[in-house]
Parts: sequence; C-alpha cells; structure tokens
Amino acid sequence: MASAALLAQLRDRLGPQGLLTEEADMAGHAIDWRRLFPGRPLAVARPADTAATAAVVDLCRRHGVAIVPQSGNTGMAGGATPDASGTELVLSLARMNAIRDVDPVGMTMELEAGVILETAQNAAAAAGRLLPISLAAEGSAMAGGVIATNAGGINVLRYGMARSLVLGLEVVLPDGTVVNGLRRLRKDNAGYDWKQLFIGSEGTLGIVTAAVLRLLPAPKDKVTALLSVPDPRAALDLLACAQDELGDTISAFELMSGFSLRLVETHFGLKRPVADGEWFVLIEAASTLSGLRDAAEAALGRALEDGFALDGIVADSGRGAADLWRLRERITESEAKEGKSVKHDVSVPIPLVPQFLVEAGEALAAKLPGARVNCFGHLGDGNLHYNVLADGRSSEEVNVVVHDVVQRFGGSISAEHGIGRYRVAELERRRAPAELDLSRRIKTALDPLDLMNPGKVLSRASLPRK
Ligand code: FAD
Ligand code: MLT
Ligand code: ZN
Repeated sequence: MASAALLAQLRDRLGPQGLLTEEADMAGHAIDWRRLFPGRPLAVARPADTAATAAVVDLCRRHGVAIVPQSGNTGMAGGATPDASGTELVLSLARMNAIRDVDPVGMTMELEAGVILETAQNAAAAAGRLLPISLAAEGSAMAGGVIATNAGGINVLRYGMARSLVLGLEVVLPDGTVVNGLRRLRKDNAGYDWKQLFIGSEGTLGIVTAAVLRLLPAPKDKVTALLSVPDPRAALDLLACAQDELGDTISAFELMSGFSLRLVETHFGLKRPVADGEWFVLIEAASTLSGLRDAAEAALGRALEDGFALDGIVADSGRGAADLWRLRERITESEAKEGKSVKHDVSVPIPLVPQFLVEAGEALAAKLPGARVNCFGHLGDGNLHYNVLADGRSSEEVNVVVHDVVQRFGGSISAEHGIGRYRVAELERRRAPAELDLSRRIKTALDPLDLMNPGKVLSRASLPRK
C-alpha cells in the first residue's frame, strides 16, 4: 500500500521519536481543544529541524499525501486537525522549539516554529525587551501557529497583529523547497515581500519553520483599570477619553458584557471588583517612563464625572492587575464549560460597534428568539467575539443571522481567528468573486496538487481539478 511505503520512509528519515502511528499517541493531534473538529490522522510526523520538515513534505508530495501543519492546536477555526479519511498526515512543529537568538540592541528574536508563545515572551523579558503578542492561549500556542493565523490578541491596538512583528520567515514550500528569509532588517524592499503570503495563510501555502520577530523596549510602568460603563456607546466615549488622557500608552482596551463576567463567576468563582453594570471595560496602559498612575487616575476621574463610567478601579502592575486580567482571560474557558457555542469573531469600523450590537441583538431576537449571547472582545480594534450559546442550534443557522448584520456594516467575518474549515462556506458566500479568484490563483500557483492543508480557507471543490 502506498501509505505503508510512505510510513516506512518517514520512519526511516525521522526515527522512532519523529513518527506517531498508534491511535492513543495521536489522540491529542486528532481533535481541537473544543472537540468540535475531530479527524483521523494517517500518522503524526514530528520533525526536529527544517531539513527533516522539508524531507517529510517532499515524501508526502511523491506519495500524493496531504499534510495538516499543527503547532499548539489552540486554533479556533478547525484549521489544525485532519479530516476523517485517515489519509492526511499531521505535521507537528512541537519538536522545533529552539530560541536561536535574542538581540536586545537590534531588538529581534529568531526562533523556531514550535516555541510556545509564553516561552518567547519570557525570553524577550529576560533580555529587557517586550514581545507584545499576547492572548489567553499563550501558554500553549506556538510561534508557527501564531504566525500562520496572523494572531491578534489583546495588544493589537498598540502593536498591531502578528504580521506587524514578523521581520523574517523561513518556510517549506509544498514542493519541499526551503526558502530562507530569516533577515533581521527593518527595511527591505528588495523584491516582493513574499513572507506576507504565508502570514495568516493557515498552513495552506507552506510550512513556517522559523521566524525573526521584532521586539520592543520593555515597559517599566503599567496600569490596569476595570470600569463598568452604562452601554457600549459610553465605552467608545471612554476610549476617546483614554486616548486623550493616556495617548499612545494604551496597549489594551477590552470590552466585556455582564453575561461574560457572570459566566466567569459561575464557572471559576471569580467576582468582579466593580459595582454592577451590564458592560465592562478593561484598559491597560504601559510606558517605558514612569508617572502613568496619575494619568490613569485623572482619566478615571474624568470618565466618572462625565458619566462614561459608573464605577472603576485602577491596579498597579502585579497581583491586582493579574486578578483583573484573569476575569478577561477566563471568559473563553467559562463559555466552553457552559456548553457548546457558535463562535463569531467579527470586526466592524470602531465607531459602528454600538449600532452593530443593537442590530445584531434585534436580528437574533427576531430569528432565534431566546438566544444567549456571550459578547466580549477587543473594542479598541473594533473586534467582537459575539458568541451565541448554541442551545441545540446549528452553527450555520446562527452564523447567517450574525454575519448578515456584519456584512451590512462593512465588517469582516473573521477578524483574528482565521477561516480554517469552520468558516469556509461563509467566506465563499460573502467575499467578492474577484478576491476569491485571486486567492485561488495564489493557492494554485504554490500548491498545484492541493496537498497543503486541503479544505481549509478555500474549499477543495472551488480549486481546479488536479
Ligand atoms: P494551531 O492551532 O496549531 O494552528 C492554527 C492554524 O495554523 C492551522 O490552520 C494550522 O494548520 C496552521 N499552522 C500551525 N502551525 C503552522 C506552521 N508552522 N506553518 C504553517 N501553518 C501552521 N487568537 C487570536 O487571534 N486572538 C486571541 O485573543 C485569541 N485568544 C484565544 C484564547 C483561547 C483561550 C484560545 C484557546 C485560543 C485563542 N486564540 C486567539 C486562537 C489561537 O490561540 C490562535 O489562533 C493561535 O495563534 C494559534 O496558535 P497554535 O500554535 O495553537 O496554532
Ligand atoms: C479572546 O479574545 O479571548 C478569544 O479570541 C476569543 C474567543 O473565545 O472567541
Ligand atoms: Zn480575541
């Protein structure tokens, strides 16, 4: 059998540690953390370096076997797990976990794809620098996955998405070629900036094996504040007020509904330390200089006086701030404990967020009466997680209601989580034909056999027949 021959060659090349074929060993790679996108891998390859990764890709191409790249497997869109056919090989980057270099003067870090995000953050901090990508899954998500999804998280407002921090990339193309673009340059206009194609491509164009990331000076002063606000419009007034008072020191501006915080209290026993309200904002400001606390207290005073905020507390860095962040970070896990949910990761122009919330609420009430919404997200980026507790409904019927409203507002149906397999149909329904056609041309040019994460981002049926 072709796959038996492939497995023998892979075992030869990777050694016993480098190939898993027993069901029990593969179990953690076969399904996502929410247990919504199960699959059956042919095997799990665990190459230890770039050359071995290229060898795996080359062997798979020769045997016509598809590859599903996987890093931390924390993705939200079902992109990192195989289909149920038992014919797709999962390629795990977990063994490629070296931080090769941290340069505090050039302010760069070179690292392999399997480095856990938190490990990379800690290495930057140890050198007095900041790697500002931060998300609640940072203890498991890995550099390769963060780059392949162009992850967002809580600091996008100030530092941009993962893309804005990638200076150089090394990738293995679907034909097995290694392309080494691990340059540490701030300026490099020599030809096409091809690395941008792979950032956010969710493993459909090639495998990210290593990267050079941009670092920043580490902040010395940080303040974190939790405020209750009367409604989302007041939260936007608060954003403007915070921008006036704290300027570009604001690094996070997160919105949480009362429903979200009630879930956190129910499932983790964490109580919010501010008076009741239906909406809450978590703000963080950070600076390499000192004196933030006075500015933060002035901003809070103004917000209370002008009625944008109902109540609020300011924490210094340290335990107080960590306690406030825990409320935000536990929302996703609390939602999972509550039951199945239909996730929406949408963005609309920032000033339209309050009206979007009104109209999305009305649409749900009209079409899916009684639906419970867990809404929270990155208000400073216009990005809301508008998650509907499924209560027996299918994701298709809920998606269509929410995404119709998103489309009316000129928004995006995937602000930061990507398309994976979860949103393929919705992307094809809602993106302009010329944009989809361009995406298919890029895919076909790089992966003519459709062996790199097939069925993710673009449907198999929409690509030219092989
Ligand atoms: P995986 O899940 O392993 O893979 C994700 C995708 O990238 C898949 O399509 C996979 O095939 C592809 N891929 C993985 N590695 C490679 C590689 N080396 N080369 C090519 N393709 C590859 N995301 C946000 O953007 N913002 C958030 O705030 C956020 N919060 C989260 C909170 C929680 C509690 C959880 C569980 C997830 C959250 N996520 C968030 C989603 C997820 O953590 C991110 O998408 C993360 O970037 C995925 O990294 P990973 O290593 O787990 O990738
Ligand atoms: C977050 O911001 O915490 C995650 O992206 C959200 C989610 O659970 O949908
Ligand atoms: Zn998010």
